[in-house]
Amino acid sequence: MYKKPQGSRRPLGFIQNEAMNPIISVHNLHKHFQIAVHRRGMFGALRNLFSRDRRWVRAVDGISFEIGRGELVGYLGPNGAGKSTTLKMLTGLLVPTSGDLLVNGYLPWRERQTYVGKIGAVFGQRTTLWWDLPVIESLDMLQHIYSIPQARYRTNLDEFRKLLELDEFLNTPVRSLSLGQRMRADLCAALLHNPPLLFLDEPTIGLDVVAKERIRQFIQHINRKRGTTIILTTHDLSDVEKLCERVMIIDKGKLLFDGQLDNLRQRFGGSRQLIVDFAEDYANVSVDGAQVTGRDGSRATYTFERSAISASELISQVSERFRIRDLEVQEPEIEETVRRIYEERLLG
Ligand SMILES: Nc1ncnc2c1ncn2[C@@H]1O[C@H](COP(=O)(O)OP(=O)(O)O)[C@@H](O)[C@H]1O
Ligand SMILES: [Mg+2]
Repeated sequence: MYKKPQGSRRPLGFIQNEAMNPIISVHNLHKHFQIAVHRRGMFGALRNLFSRDRRWVRAVDGISFEIGRGELVGYLGPNGAGKSTTLKMLTGLLVPTSGDLLVNGYLPWRERQTYVGKIGAVFGQRTTLWWDLPVIESLDMLQHIYSIPQARYRTNLDEFRKLLELDEFLNTPVRSLSLGQRMRADLCAALLHNPPLLFLDEPTIGLDVVAKERIRQFIQHINRKRGTTIILTTHDLSDVEKLCERVMIIDKGKLLFDGQLDNLRQRFGGSRQLIVDFAEDYANVSVDGAQVTGRDGSRATYTFERSAISASELISQVSERFRIRDLEVQEPEIEETVRRIYEERLLG
């Protein structure tokens, strides 16, 4: 029986919507792994022969949240934060050490057989398709495995072929696909049976800017047009900035923030940087609202606060005064955002 989160410290930005009828409820979820610690040195090596010291890793360390139908939520955190472990529990791949977990009325790990037919999941690092088969044959196999009626299969396949531009490699074996192509094929495979829920683990990892954008647009389309509830994990802030209204930030197995992206940005957005290559050499390149924090030949780095000036205001100021060859805005890394949240918690 699912119990409302209580007691433990709530993440910053926590929104509790009493009216929400959650499709996912997670309460005080834990996953601990036991790992062997190798002793070092000659005596250590000798002792390793007889016994191993063991240590517990709290990959997920008491997490609670609820997700409403139709939400598109970003699950964000640095490497090793516990994102994949959470998703594996949500998709029934791992049994929780403790805690409650209910997804669309299912206990994922206990009802795994039925459950996997009711969700879609893509783990960026590995494919659900058959390595040696052409993409289309893999998809046909999935139709039979999931018993997808022919009409639904055809409609979905036709739609995804267009949206994901699959035609160019439908007859190519999966092992010969590029990373981006494989991700597109995997997304199609995960959605053929019209699941109401889609779990994506780092769907844009390792992709170039164009490929990332294509995947993001597809995810957004599926969420908006089909009302599919989606959780996607990422360590890339720009993924969630383009896609998600709500973000959860996890670090060291604990939820640090759960709330609106706007709120996160204003409170912890941190300073951004504008890097400009000038077409001429200028002695003084200072402008209002930003600090020049780097100068190297014809290149300058401006550091500015989100709250003080917008990127476009700053760019127009700089371009009014100087001739510019190229420029780029840099957002803070997720590690920087996480560090700021810890600082605020210490102060607050
Ligand atoms: N099967 C496992 N055995 C032991 N430790 C694990 C296992 N899976 C994950 N971990 C550890 O749990 C922590 C969280 O891992 P993970 O959930 O993969 O993080 P993320 O996906 O955020 O990068 C890491 O310290 C990782 O080394
Ligand atoms: Mg991971």
